[in-house]
Amino acid sequence: MLILAIETSCDETAAAVTEGRHILSSVINTQIEEHKKYGGVVPEIASRRHCENISAVVDKALADAKKTYSDIDAVAVTFAPGLIGALLVGVNFAKGLAMSLNVPLIPVHHLRSHIAANYIDNEQLKPPFLCLTVSGGNSVITDVADYTKFSIIGQTRDDAAGECFDKSARAMGLSYPGGVNLDKIATTADFKKYPLPKPQIEDSIYDFSFSGLKTAVINTLHNASQKGETVDIPVLAATVRKRVCDMLIENTLLALEETGRKTLVLAGGVSANSELRTRLEQECKKREISFFRPELKYCGDNAAMVGVQAYFEYMNSNTAGPELNATATLPIDYI
Ligand code: KG4
Repeated sequence: MLILAIETSCDETAAAVTEGRHILSSVINTQIEEHKKYGGVVPEIASRRHCENISAVVDKALADAKKTYSDIDAVAVTFAPGLIGALLVGVNFAKGLAMSLNVPLIPVHHLRSHIAANYIDNEQLKPPFLCLTVSGGNSVITDVADYTKFSIIGQTRDDAAGECFDKSARAMGLSYPGGVNLDKIATTADFKKYPLPKPQIEDSIYDFSFSGLKTAVINTLHNASQKGETVDIPVLAATVRKRVCDMLIENTLLALEETGRKTLVLAGGVSANSELRTRLEQECKKREISFFRPELKYCGDNAAMVGVQAYFEYMNSNTAGPELNATATLPIDYI
């Protein structure tokens, strides 16, 4: 079954042609350079660029796969969650395409597709497993009982881990996308020099909170500047990175114990973080837990992962009609 998948949830216009877990083509048109000027994604600009680029990106995905529109068996699209104006471009394009080709339309949840990035060309990985999904807008520990059966075990109460990285990086003067650059320049953490707090959630051992940590980084930089002191940015970057990883890893290990799952999957843009990847791999090895994380090229937003999840959604009869709408916020266990 050949699926043409479309992704426009944030600042990447992406299209892919997929068949089950296999990727025939994956095209990503990123807007990073344009948003860099503003220090973050400007939603209206993102929507306008999606409008301009989507036809060419889809055409290239078909050409790269050496397929034509008539070869396509279904159209899949990210419909939630994300920037609403950005999502609407992809959803409307996909609806029109599915209708004109007379093929099924498959709506895909963005976080489900991030998890599916781990299935790409990897027949070994099958549910059930536990998954830590960390991106710019979400940080969630999910029990994945089946390809389309998810239950939330823990999640952030405020900012996502990616948001904490991005805003900390911006305050440190690093360019957008902050999380990537913070990870690149970070050296060795030093909590004596920069005593960043470790937020605890009283009524849930699995939930996260990152906004206090982000504020602490901003205050550290502000206080130093008021006193005319220089901040060792690579050390501060490593200290905040370690704090974020400590929280993500500790809660995930607790959830692994509680659920008894023997496989852990890491997903989302922050799964590209070097410390998070390495430390989770080591912790899983110690506990004889199988550990999976996406290839770096599939960590960020792309349509290949949308097509792969769409296949499983289709097999579970999760298709949509022309009334499909985009949704800015929607939990992963919505259905
Ligand atoms: O999943 P994603 O591409 O988009 C969303 O759906 O949010 O995630 C983007 C997030 C951004 O916050 C970005 O800074 C972060 O992932 N990110 C990283 C790294 N690479 C991307 N954060 C920390 N370390 C990285 N190496």
